[in-house]
Amino acid sequence: MNIEVIKFDNSGRGIGYLDNKIIFIPKSVPGDIVLVKITKDKKDYLEGSIVKIIKPSKLRKEAICPYFNLCGGCDLMHVSLTEELEYKLTKINDILRSKNIDYQVKDIIKSDREYAYRNKITLKVIKQKIGYYLSDSHELLEIKKCYLVNDAINNLITDLPKLSIINGEITIRCNYKNELLIIIKSTDTLSNIDYFITQHNIVGIIQNNKCIYGEDFFFTQIQDLLFKVSYDAFFQVNDNMCEKLFNLIRENTLNQKKILDLYCGVGTLSLVAALNSDYTLGIEINENAIKDALINKVINKIDNAEFICSDTKNILNQITNDYDVVILDPPRSGVDANVLKKIMEQKIKTIIYVSCNPFTLVRDLNILKENYIIKDIKLLDMFVWSEHVESFCVLNLR
Ligand SMILES: C[S@@+](CC[C@H](N)C(=O)[O-])C[C@H]1O[C@@H](n2cnc3c(N)ncnc32)[C@H](O)[C@@H]1O
Repeated sequence: MNIEVIKFDNSGRGIGYLDNKIIFIPKSVPGDIVLVKITKDKKDYLEGSIVKIIKPSKLRKEAICPYFNLCGGCDLMHVSLTEELEYKLTKINDILRSKNIDYQVKDIIKSDREYAYRNKITLKVIKQKIGYYLSDSHELLEIKKCYLVNDAINNLITDLPKLSIINGEITIRCNYKNELLIIIKSTDTLSNIDYFITQHNIVGIIQNNKCIYGEDFFFTQIQDLLFKVSYDAFFQVNDNMCEKLFNLIRENTLNQKKILDLYCGVGTLSLVAALNSDYTLGIEINENAIKDALINKVINKIDNAEFICSDTKNILNQITNDYDVVILDPPRSGVDANVLKKIMEQKIKTIIYVSCNPFTLVRDLNILKENYIIKDIKLLDMFVWSEHVESFCVLNLR
């Protein structure tokens, strides 16, 4: 049946109606008329896949990537960048409005790179085929190249079959010098490691958390700061947007004395904030990341930062009112409720909340809004062509 696509949903899928029932159609665009095959028929909604585009929307453009229509990696490569940015602003504002948060986000900061911007890719291996999952599925789409990563990673992808992995997962991380770390989860015996070492700029291979070649970390640089990053430590996936995030942290921590950075990773935002402040404390659960942070403060000659390895919810005693600013950059699950409660009790003047999940961000803003007003929310297009977006919020104590 033919469906007219009305708008995008919050996951970047087109929405239409069939006999008054809502239908979600991945890879469709508002304004399209599409012939659809029903893939899921639930009580309250349907899901469908495009069989044929009967009449393309004026917003539609040809995706650069030949895998786009099937691949579960990107959601919005079939519209212009202007539309993609507009989609993200609308999405955030819809989510804020749905939770009665009275704030209109107007700014979205663009990535200087539309393609080849990611420093990390994770591929699945199933029965020796290597690729991404198909949209909304656990079936594999074999790929030879991904437009989101650079040539150093793509050249390695071409050679990955030579490793003879039958089933598992391969993550490739790349630093500012195009040095690569390969992180493998698989019980299969690897072949041709010597070939990889001679053909690619590999600094380390880690299999099932064991370093089997070189080092289990690399150094990378953002602006004038150098960071050791262990294979399993978080690092922002888009170096260019990471720079822009650093700039926002710098602007919003000027003239602040004491700063607390919860969920600090390898100490990135803590060290940027430390350059502006008398003292910064970073808290992080990943032991390797904290060891990296302690080294990062030394190599960057920053002596007013300290780091503690802990789950944030176990260091509530560190959240005290002598901090001027608390930076929150949690995982997708958001900030622990007791942590938010303690920040509110201690009346810390400014909260900088960096989030990659608008749903948990809004959940947490709803708690904080009792004591804090939103001074600013900006979006960063960290994950270009995906439905995901990074938010940067500054809250001031009422
Ligand atoms: C989105 S990352 C942000 C890291 C850092 N701010 C950056 O920009 O590189 C979230 C970090 O929170 C850490 N994390 C996750 N759960 C945590 C918890 N309960 N307590 C402390 N840290 C946690 C993760 O290991 C990860 O390093």
